[in-house]
Amino acid sequence: MCHIQEIPENGADIAHLNYLHKSAPPITKGSDIIKTDLSDPQPAVQHVWDGKWEVKSEEDKHCGVMHLNQYMTIWGYRVPLTSSKLIAEQHGPGIVHMIFDFGMWGKGVVFQTVTPEEALLQRVRFRIFSNIPWFFVKFFYDCGGNAI
Ligand SMILES: [Fe+2]
Repeated sequence: MCHIQEIPENGADIAHLNYLHKSAPPITKGSDIIKTDLSDPQPAVQHVWDGKWEVKSEEDKHCGVMHLNQYMTIWGYRVPLTSSKLIAEQHGPGIVHMIFDFGMWGKGVVFQTVTPEEALLQRVRFRIFSNIPWFFVKFFYDCGGNAI
């Protein structure tokens, strides 16, 4: 329930990840932002995010590309095998093509579409294709892997 423009604006705002998506499960209780505990500025288990946006190419100036890196820490120490890389291409407000890499866990593609159904009502669909074990994908998806 939002304007279609708010969804890509959220994705463009990389800075919010280290605030609203810092806490890692089970602290966040999933991707529900309402249940995210922001009272502890240094939770024991954290996601650490870093990324940038750039224009895809001279020929494709209408496409933005985000390069996003993430890893987890416990009490400030980096946790091995938790690194992930994401490359996301934003094609207008309604299409996002993402390629993610969880290292030894596998790789995958996410195709996101946003379809307006009413003025402030969007239907967002995610199609995930991956060689990562299904339970691992479901865990990250349920825990905010969609990063909305
Ligand atoms: Fe977010």
